[in-house]
Amino acid sequence: MCGIVGYIGYRDAYPIIVKGLQRLEYRGYDSAGIALFDGEEINLSKTKGKVDDLKKKAEGSISLKGNLGIGHTRWATHGAPNDVNSHPHYSNSGDLVIIHNGIIENYDAIKKELINRGYVFSSDTDTEVLVNLIEEVKRKENVKLGHAVQIALNQVVGAYAIAVIDKQKPDEIVVAKLGSPLAIGIGEKEFFVASDASPFIEYTNNAVYLEDEEMAIIRLGKEIKLRKIKDNSIAYPSIQELQLNLEEIEKGGFEHFMLKEIYEQPRAILDTYRGRLLAKEGLIRMAGIDENLEKFLNANRIIIVACGTSWHAGLVAEYIFEDLARIPVEVEYASEFRYRNPVVTENDVLIAISQSGETADTLAAIKLAKEKGAFVFGVCNVVGSSIARETDAGAYTHAGPEIGVASTKAFTTQITVLTLLALKLAKAKGVFNNTRFHEYLTELEQIPAKVEEVLLTNPLVEIIADVYKDSPNCLYLGRGYNFPVALEGALKLKEISYIHAEGYPAAEMKHGPIALIDEHMPVVVIATSKGHYEKIVSNIQEIKSRKGKIIAVVTKGDVQVRELADHVIEVPETLENLTPLLTTIPLQLLSYHIAVMRGCNVDQPRNLAKSVTVE
Ligand code: F6R
Repeated sequence: MCGIVGYIGYRDAYPIIVKGLQRLEYRGYDSAGIALFDGEEINLSKTKGKVDDLKKKAEGSISLKGNLGIGHTRWATHGAPNDVNSHPHYSNSGDLVIIHNGIIENYDAIKKELINRGYVFSSDTDTEVLVNLIEEVKRKENVKLGHAVQIALNQVVGAYAIAVIDKQKPDEIVVAKLGSPLAIGIGEKEFFVASDASPFIEYTNNAVYLEDEEMAIIRLGKEIKLRKIKDNSIAYPSIQELQLNLEEIEKGGFEHFMLKEIYEQPRAILDTYRGRLLAKEGLIRMAGIDENLEKFLNANRIIIVACGTSWHAGLVAEYIFEDLARIPVEVEYASEFRYRNPVVTENDVLIAISQSGETADTLAAIKLAKEKGAFVFGVCNVVGSSIARETDAGAYTHAGPEIGVASTKAFTTQITVLTLLALKLAKAKGVFNNTRFHEYLTELEQIPAKVEEVLLTNPLVEIIADVYKDSPNCLYLGRGYNFPVALEGALKLKEISYIHAEGYPAAEMKHGPIALIDEHMPVVVIATSKGHYEKIVSNIQEIKSRKGKIIAVVTKGDVQVRELADHVIEVPETLENLTPLLTTIPLQLLSYHIAVMRGCNVDQPRNLAKSVTVE
């Protein structure tokens, strides 16, 4: 959480940092700040609110001059989101200024010690403690900034990506990382620092991603120096060529990133299986799996760990793996798994699913499983992310950058990768013969076109959204493969429209939730033709007889449900295992339209951040 940006070079730092912060707002957006160094003074402006609020404040109040600067967009952890707690933070002398993404867990003890030595604090943040600790080390040990940062970081417990500047050093930024991402863009006579590469993509294609426990001294006119924070040994930067392009991180004519990303799904799914699914040859080729096939085939079981939407993709995968490949699967919230002393052995395979590849709980679950000897496979979207690097092997989803805080294309592309994996295992285990395998491959190839077809329901979904936009509650029901879709539909609605929503397996309704149903309760039921159709029709009858309002997602040509439901959204027919790839789409659109109609900030819902790098 939190986004950080820094610049040092020959251009004006202000516009680069502001634009960069806007691109990183998905990481947190409750306050923002900037510090600009004009060679003599460090001018600082910060405010509660968004980067636009910061612009308004800074442009009227401080000098915007300077070819060196740092900026921050915040998702509050320590201290309420207000002007004072916003970053950057000065040290007591006013010489040092810091931005920080992460949490310093032992900040309280350090703060008490610093107070005893006469330091005063104006904010409630752990970050202000860190910058003063660096100042104290610098003063006491009489060392330069880089050295002081290193000594101070050896005294802190927690997670950080930091950038620090010093009034005595007009040509230097010191950065360090543990647990939170940090990229350095390397241009001609200029350097950029950011939580991801999006703030500097139009200036350079070359970047260095710091590893955990590494720091860098970035000095104008010099090569960047990388060091290990623990032992001061030299680390050698590996410069990577960025694959990102500007178009991918802009809205491209859509009103919101979320809508753009919903509409990108046909392309994203295609990109995810392109070059991997070879229907004509009757093959699935995926390096990360081909090289480790035996590990999967000999596994006692597969454990899937993830959070949020990625956890829902894990639930779909559980059904697919058990159904197609006959391998036992357990799906766990990463946050529970890591703290409950789970039984994991070297005969287990753990699959970690994460769009961002930075989710702290998922990362911790991976480390735990590795300690216990399990083989760990990652399914990530962000290339080079911490989870992608921490896992033994993996497969990327090729969804492209997902900027809307609510996950959409990440979900469908995760399911695509996991389906390819399950099919490959089913074939290798001999559960599938060639004919069945081929049937799946050709149907999977049809999915992008079928998603396009589902997207044509958008005007109808918008009309339905208008009917239910003021409902305080909503239920989502599904069975089998569509149960995780019901959970995902409910999550989408609550996170962006703030309507209370719950997903249930349809048959569970009579064990409690049915008590909620009256004429005011909208119930979204996913009732596709394959898999327990008659059973779900009975569930719909039960809702209808209690006067609930029924919004049904059905297979094209459905007659029975149409007679019972208040609204019907059709999706094309497909194999049962692949239905989530289609039924999810109208639920994404429904929550999108409801949120827009309620005046909510769809791309940046309150209290949330895209990348959850704290526990
Ligand atoms: C919901 C959403 C979150 C994420 C969760 C995990 O729309 O986006 O629930 O799915 O925070 O994030 P990743 O997949 O990045 O690990």
